[in-house]
Amino acid sequence: MDPINIGDMRALARRRLPRMLYDYLDGGTHDELTLGTNLEDFDRLRFVPPVLQDVSRIDLATTIFGERLSMPLILGPVGSLGVLSRLGDIATARAAEACGITSCLSTTAVSSVEDVCAARKEPIWFQLYVMNEPGHHEHLIQRAKAVNCKALVLTVDSAISAQRDRDMRHGYTHTGQVKLSNIADMITRLDWIRDVLLGPRLNFGSMPGGKNNYKRIMSKAGGGLIAKDLTWDTFRDIRAKWDGPLVLKGVMTPRDAVKAVECGADGIVVSNHGGRQLDGAISSIMALAPIVDAVNERAVVMLDSGIRRGQHVVKALAMGAKACLIGRGYAYGLAARGQAGVEQSIEIFRKEMTMTMGMLGCRSIGELRRELLHTGDWQF
Ligand SMILES: Cc1cc2nc3c(=O)[nH]c(=O)nc-3n(C[C@H](O)[C@H](O)[C@H](O)COP(=O)(O)O)c2cc1C
Repeated sequence: MDPINIGDMRALARRRLPRMLYDYLDGGTHDELTLGTNLEDFDRLRFVPPVLQDVSRIDLATTIFGERLSMPLILGPVGSLGVLSRLGDIATARAAEACGITSCLSTTAVSSVEDVCAARKEPIWFQLYVMNEPGHHEHLIQRAKAVNCKALVLTVDSAISAQRDRDMRHGYTHTGQVKLSNIADMITRLDWIRDVLLGPRLNFGSMPGGKNNYKRIMSKAGGGLIAKDLTWDTFRDIRAKWDGPLVLKGVMTPRDAVKAVECGADGIVVSNHGGRQLDGAISSIMALAPIVDAVNERAVVMLDSGIRRGQHVVKALAMGAKACLIGRGYAYGLAARGQAGVEQSIEIFRKEMTMTMGMLGCRSIGELRRELLHTGDWQF
């Protein structure tokens, strides 16, 4: 199948991955209410298109933290990409570069920040989890600085380890025990076996425990890895240690967004972690407008969670976001086809965004505005 949209990429990923890993990527917390709401609310929000605008030239380019991007789309931090595709973190960063955008490496990536940065010319962003390990995050900040990471993204919605029912059923992460039924399924995925299982030994390049920490980290993934005692003081302390753009990811209320700005955040990602943390939380698109208004241009407001179409990106930008991050929207492509799959996914977004902008009479990102959305029956 030649994928024409991200739904097709998802189907291809499902075919290539062992079911346990597909569910790790695709799933959300508990009843997956927020996972569903993220998608439904994007679709519920409708455009109001003007006509007779000259749309013979449409330019998606934008600038975020002084960096020119060919479009306002960023490949967000997704942990364990190297389990979906052995060099997945590097493939992702390279695909972003090839398409003129940027990517953010997760603390729980398989490849190290040094290896990923060495694989591309322009620096990437680095996502920081503060782990339950004294001195660890300070050390990671130093490592990210040493390889010139462009921005530091502190994720703050994950202090409590989520229960993802699909993972529980497979025995993935919490017990570290792969069930017999999963092994039976795994041996049918020959491409994945060749790439990941028979590839170099897995290791989390930025996690505590040094070389060969994979099993140890996985057995702790059910809880206790990420620090639970973070406060605004932690954020201020990290602000003091990082000179470059600092982004807070996982903000869902205007009050927290304003607090983040007051504590020195340069950017905010409105995010519910793609429905993988608090089940029952509102969608990120629903949370966006009041946050944009409260921040009032004092920081770069971005959004993720639920983006599967270029139309979704355009809706978020029209509502006031400056850029969108995607997670599954590119990770399906990676799982299906490696770097080529990520590039194909990015180009699918570009094509859908260009078409949607044209149909809205917009020639540049700056022309997107809230009046292009039907917000009358949309509750903030
Ligand atoms: C499999 C998976 C792993 C993730 N790992 C991380 C992570 O390590 N750090 C982080 O800040 N966010 C992580 N996220 C959340 C993403 O950065 C992003 O917020 C989310 O995927 C956006 O929702 P979407 O998948 O609907 O685009 C992960 C998401 C997925 C799907």
